[in-house]
Amino acid sequence: MTYVLTEREEQLIKKINRLRKEKNAIILAHYYQRGEIQDIADVVGDSLELARKAQKTDADIIVFAGVRFMAETAKILNPDKKVLHPNPESGCPMADMATYQALKKMKEEHPDAVVVAYINTNADVKTLADIIVTSRNAVKVVKSLDAKKIIFVPDKFLGSFIAKQVPEKEFIFWEGFCPPHFNLTAEQLLELKEKYPNAKIAVHPECNTSAVEIADFVGSTSQIIEFATTVDADTVIVGTEVGLKHQLEKINPNKNYVFPETADYCGIVHCCDMKKNTLDKIAEVLENETNEVVLPEDVMEKARLPLERMVKIV
Ligand code: 13P
Ligand code: SF4
Repeated sequence: MTYVLTEREEQLIKKINRLRKEKNAIILAHYYQRGEIQDIADVVGDSLELARKAQKTDADIIVFAGVRFMAETAKILNPDKKVLHPNPESGCPMADMATYQALKKMKEEHPDAVVVAYINTNADVKTLADIIVTSRNAVKVVKSLDAKKIIFVPDKFLGSFIAKQVPEKEFIFWEGFCPPHFNLTAEQLLELKEKYPNAKIAVHPECNTSAVEIADFVGSTSQIIEFATTVDADTVIVGTEVGLKHQLEKINPNKNYVFPETADYCGIVHCCDMKKNTLDKIAEVLENETNEVVLPEDVMEKARLPLERMVKIV
């Protein structure tokens, strides 16, 4: 699907390019961002790849086109950089389902458990974690832990996906979930499979268990791209946020990528929060250096430990 830029967007991109050069800035974008943002980003990636890039960059300014926990993670991992979030209202509803006080209470109730937090958590919640995971490395990280008992926060679906592959450990799940991925059902995927009998099904582990169970492949956004663009099938049914279609078609336009439609939220597997960043907002933050991510020093220090533990493992 080729997107034709308007004259205004072309002007904005020229402005962004001039400013990022003048200010030695880098633009990092998640795969769920609007296509035009993915196209101008220096790096497009999954949560883990973007966190790693943010940690290592020489740029003076990081413009993070993703949701708030991603921009916060960049700041925590590389605190000397100025991190700008194009739209501070772009949060993650699942991250907001886990609060500091409630997790602290859960920890007190299970003093023998290790807290594994999904990177989709707010910075204060990360301070209570022993280690962080992303959808890409979660199974590997959890397997590497000595602990027998795990509190997994906040995604109960990613948690149960991990638990199935690490049966030797006991899990206590948080009641959190990602609204767009939760809306996708196995029935919808199977209906599409009837329409495209030779298709393969690839889903994100944030999808509900019934959808995960019938998939041919389960992985992070980057891993889905790798699978879908190379698998021996003309059609791939993709169970994740529709922003990924842009990158799939760019990398291998010879395949047909089918994204299911759901009845509510934004209408399809569509993260409204991810779409709150726009070219206008990127140009604005680069020009005025506004919307800087600022976190208390003690929160950054405590949250850095579990993040660095993860980055070292994988
Ligand atoms: P990835 O780590 O797979 O990019 O996923 C991030 C996310 O928010 C999925 O909803
Ligand atoms: Fe959060 Fe789900 Fe949006 Fe990812 S897709 S940012 S988990 S609400």
